[in-house]
Amino acid sequence: MSFLDLAKVRYSTKKYDNTKQVSNEQIEELKQILRLSPSSINSQPWKFTFITDPTLKKELASKSYVNEQSINDVNLLVVFSVMENIEHFENRNLSVLPEAWVKGFYEPLVKSNGNEAVKTWLENQVYLSLGFFLSACMNMGLDATPMEGIERQAYKQILNQDGYSPLFAVTVGYADAPNDWAHPTILPKSRFELKEVVESI
Ligand SMILES: Cc1cc2nc3c(=O)[nH]c(=O)nc-3n(C[C@H](O)[C@H](O)[C@H](O)COP(=O)(O)O)c2cc1C
Repeated sequence: MSFLDLAKVRYSTKKYDNTKQVSNEQIEELKQILRLSPSSINSQPWKFTFITDPTLKKELASKSYVNEQSINDVNLLVVFSVMENIEHFENRNLSVLPEAWVKGFYEPLVKSNGNEAVKTWLENQVYLSLGFFLSACMNMGLDATPMEGIERQAYKQILNQDGYSPLFAVTVGYADAPNDWAHPTILPKSRFELKEVVESI
C-alpha cells in the first residue's frame, strides 16, 4: 500500500484486541527505528522506554486518565522522555557534534533565546520522533495511539527516570476494529480541507 493509502486508514486506536500481541521481533525493530529518528543538528535529546512488564504497565495505566484500558489491553507501551538538564545535554549530546553546528546554529539560534526556548526546542525533537514512530507502526501493520493524557510526574517516579522527563506515551497493538468507535469505517477521518492547510505558491 502507498504511504498515502496507509495514512487514510491509520488512526488513533481507542479499543485494542487484547488477544493479539506485538511480537518480540517487532518490538526490537521498533527500538531500532526510534534510534534512527531524525532531530535538529542530530541533537537526540531523548529516551525511549519500552514497557512490556505487565505489573509496571498496569501501574502506569492507572496514571493515564482515559487511556487506562488501552494500556492494559496492549502488550507494548512506549514512553517518550526528554533530557531535562541543559548543561548535561550540552556536555553529552553537543560535544560529539561538528563545532560548526553548535557555534553556527545551536548557540546563536537556540541558546541565545534563553533556557525556556532551549527546553521547547528539546521537546520539539522528541515530538518529531513521535511522528516517525507512528509512521513506522503504520508501515508495520501495527495500530498505535499517541497519549499526552498521562500523569507525567507519576510516570517519572514509577519509571525511576533520572535526568529525563516523560512527555507522552504510545500504545502499540492490534485494534479491535469492529468494536472501536474511532475506527475510520465507523468514524470517518476528520481533517480540514486540503486548500485550508496547504498552499502552493
Ligand atoms: C501529541 C498527541 C497526543 C494525543 N493524546 C491522546 C490521548 O491521550 N488519548 C487518546 O485517545 N488520543 C490521543 N491523541 C490522538 C488524537 O486525538 C488524534 O491523533 C486526532 O484526533 C486525529 O485522529 P487520528 O489520529 O485517528 O487520525 C493524541 C495525539 C497526539 C498527536
